[in-house]
This record gives sequence, C-alpha cells and structure tokens, in this order.
Amino acid sequence: MDDTISGALLLWETILQKEAYPIFRLAYLSKPVVPFTDADFDDIESKSLKANSLRDVTGLLIVHDDKILQVLEGREQAVRELYAKIDADPRHTITKLVCGVEDEERMLLTWNMVVRKISNIPPEISEQYLQIYSELQNATELSEVTLEHIDLFKVISLFAALP
Ligand SMILES: Cc1cc2nc3c(=O)[nH]c(=O)nc-3n(C[C@H](O)[C@H](O)[C@H](O)COP(=O)(O)O)c2cc1C
Repeated sequence: MDDTISGALLLWETILQKEAYPIFRLAYLSKPVVPFTDADFDDIESKSLKANSLRDVTGLLIVHDDKILQVLEGREQAVRELYAKIDADPRHTITKLVCGVEDEERMLLTWNMVVRKISNIPPEISEQYLQIYSELQNATELSEVTLEHIDLFKVISLFAALP
C-alpha cells in the first residue's frame, strides 16, 4: 500500500480509537486560598500540560481574580483520578462541582490551556462570562456545561493567548 494511504489510514484508526470510549466531562468552580502568584501559575500550567496529555485528558482552566473554573474531559477514571488530585490541592478550595457527565464526543478536542486572567479581553465577553459563572455558582443542582458555554470559554482562551 502507498505510504501516504497507509499513513492516512493509521491516522484515521488513531482518531477512531481515541473516541472509542465514552467521554466524561467534569467541571468545577473554586477559589484560591491566597491569590495565585506567577510561580503558582507556572507550576499548574506545566503540570497540567504534561500530566493531562499523558492521561488523554483535555481541558480548560480559567482563573479570574478569586474565580476559578475548570472543565476536564477524557476517560472517566482518568478524569476522576485527576480531579481527586486537584481537589486535594491546598492552593484552592472547590466551591461547586458543576457537572460530571458522560458524552459521546469531546467538546474540548485538543484543548489544554490555562487562562491566567480575563481582564484584558473585551468587556462584553467578560460580562457574559461572569454572568455564566454566577449562574453556575448559584445553581442548586448540577448544571449542564453547554456548547455555548464552551465556545465562550474558547474565545476567552484565544483572547488571553494574544500577546
Ligand atoms: C486550580 C488548579 C487546577 C489544576 N489543574 C490541574 C490539571 O488540570 N492537571 C494537573 O495535572 N494538575 C493540575 N493542578 C495541580 C494539581 O492540583 C497537583 O498539584 C498536581 O497534580 C500534583 O502533581 P504531582 O502529584 O505529580 O506532584 C491544578 C491545581 C490547581 C490549584
């Protein structure tokens, strides 16, 4: 078989294999015990980027002043084990488990990012974000993290990544 075709088939098989298990999506809100320093951010970022990709977990972490939001997706056991570690981290206190649900697809395919601040993004986007954050925080039951939420989080991540 032509090398290009067998390469493409291998890639396709890898993609199929990747989603061969149901995706577990977990989101939580937390607040820092004391404001994160650059060293905290560097530590969390480097650990997350390495450990999450090793576990095939994708996710987004947004930190804005005392409001932290993280979404994690992957195999259920991997996400739960990671969450147990994060929950035990003395640098923050979890204030709300937003959801822990199974889905057929990842919403955060290939995403693995830490957003350190949202103050430098357009005000209408940060207002929308703060509104969603307070709805999730005040919900009396588990909430759904919707595609619209995820799209907004991605936009925030992209703005935050701008130089
Ligand atoms: C808000 C917050 C989010 C974090 N997110 C992750 C994460 O996504 N992945 C990760 O490996 N560690 C994350 N950490 C760090 C873990 O809590 C913990 O420090 C790390 O997993 C310890 O790894 P070690 O036991 O290998 O030293 C996070 C910490 C905080 C405070």
